[in-house]
Amino acid sequence: MNKDRKLIIAGNWKMNKTVAEALDLVAGLKRELAAIKEVDLVVAPPFTALSEVSKVILDSNIRLGAQNVSEQNVGAYTGEIAAAMLKEFSVRYVILGHSERRQYQQESNELVARKAIAVHAVALKPIICVGEVLAERESGRTEKVLETQVRGSVAGLTADQMEETVIAYEPVWAIGTGKTATTEQAQAAHAFIRRTLASLYDETVAKRVRIQYGGSVKPGNARELMSQPDVDGALVGGAALEVRSFSDIVKNSI
Ligand code: PGA
Repeated sequence: MNKDRKLIIAGNWKMNKTVAEALDLVAGLKRELAAIKEVDLVVAPPFTALSEVSKVILDSNIRLGAQNVSEQNVGAYTGEIAAAMLKEFSVRYVILGHSERRQYQQESNELVARKAIAVHAVALKPIICVGEVLAERESGRTEKVLETQVRGSVAGLTADQMEETVIAYEPVWAIGTGKTATTEQAQAAHAFIRRTLASLYDETVAKRVRIQYGGSVKPGNARELMSQPDVDGALVGGAALEVRSFSDIVKNSI
């Protein structure tokens, strides 16, 4: 696939996998995906498995991601984890503002933006998730919602930081539901997000930002989604929990 931007495919393991299970999965992925150079590969295990997984992928083409981070750097924030602590485990990417965190932890665009700044401050890369719920799509408000989320969630990032940020478009109605956005819906949303970035920064920055699609990505739909001009990768949930399905998504995307 001939694209200006290198594809980035990330597995969001959510609250799944013990350390032993995580090591099994990542050993399989290492084996299956050893030859892949065309795609940036990322796995985001739960915090408890980061240390062990980081040792296993050190000599591989797989990079480590985390699923959340504190917006604070240090101090009395019980239960929180700072970006610099993630860096200790060779984490490179941090997923921010996933719809599950927006819904269950009431994360706002403002909070996501502060977290993104904290992530960049230690030279990690945020993967910022945005996406509309079904009622918003059905009432024709998708673009308005995406614009508000993108603007609010990248507020305060410099142009250089923006270029090193990944956006994940994840229509909430497609997450874990088996319903995927059609390729037309995905491409239209991605193009809209890129236009929004162009208006916030400029065309050059907007052209460099990678925009992943997420929401029931499977081996069978990966190729078509990834063939869209503004779709630069995938953020995969359910299908990232098994070696075969995640590897096939990656291989089918090339
Ligand atoms: P899904 O999840 O692939 O299971 O739909 C995607 C995500 O939530 O990132």
